[in-house]
Amino acid sequence: MTRAPSINSNFWGKRGGVKRPKVVAIVPAAGYGRRLGAGKKKPFVLLGGKPLVSYALKTLDGCKAIDGIVVAAKRPCIKRLKNIAKQAGIRKLIDVVAGGKTRFESVRNCMKSIGPTFDVVLIHDAARPLIDEDTIERSINAAARFGASIAGLPESDTVKLADKGLFIKKTLDRNRIFRAQTPQAFRYELIKKAYLRAGAGVTDDAGLVEAIGVRVKIVEGSFRNLKITTKEDLKIAEALL
Ligand code: CTP
Ligand code: MG
Repeated sequence: MTRAPSINSNFWGKRGGVKRPKVVAIVPAAGYGRRLGAGKKKPFVLLGGKPLVSYALKTLDGCKAIDGIVVAAKRPCIKRLKNIAKQAGIRKLIDVVAGGKTRFESVRNCMKSIGPTFDVVLIHDAARPLIDEDTIERSINAAARFGASIAGLPESDTVKLADKGLFIKKTLDRNRIFRAQTPQAFRYELIKKAYLRAGAGVTDDAGLVEAIGVRVKIVEGSFRNLKITTKEDLKIAEALL
């Protein structure tokens, strides 16, 4: 594993009188939501009376550390997504681009639409509506410092590694097991390189950066930042609103 190259001297721009990196948020929202089976695409399913995607957009938009937002939506839904952003009063939206067949392709399409004017790229799934500003800031700070970061939730159950016959092979050290969440944040040049080199079939951006030999720092995520995958998750999120 190599460390990320050191930050060059003009990495930190002065924004609002404070030295901080210029950050773009990518929001993949071009999935179907097959496992949710709600009869409409997951980003548009209502949570507390509002489209699911509007929650992540609103929190990212309100976060001082974020300078711009690029969203991926299914091509026929681009206009609808722009309208949702408008209704939610999103001010930092740069673009809504067409997503691809997989999340990887959707993120790659977003990457193509942003230039090297950004220092840090933060990727956050539309399917995680209850993200908070502290986690976003922790992710950005760790990415700026170490090159790459992911939000992780410490595992609370004891975790067993099984063999093919489902017999326990090993009990893992729970203190070192984390569930990967988003946001995942990266210095621009690292994620660009990782996406250029990667093949399809990727569900985890941090995995891409690991594959090019960069150490990824885990920052504290939160239970509230759950991913809406099934109907039960939607009920839990409703209760947490
Ligand atoms: N996503 C995307 N483009 C795809 C597939 C997924 O932008 N082609 C996005 C989803 O909109 C979601 C995130 O990636 O915000 C995580 O994906 P997941 O939770 O698996 O959502 P879906 O793919 O929509 O759900 P399912 O796998 O149940 O169909
Ligand atoms: Mg999926």
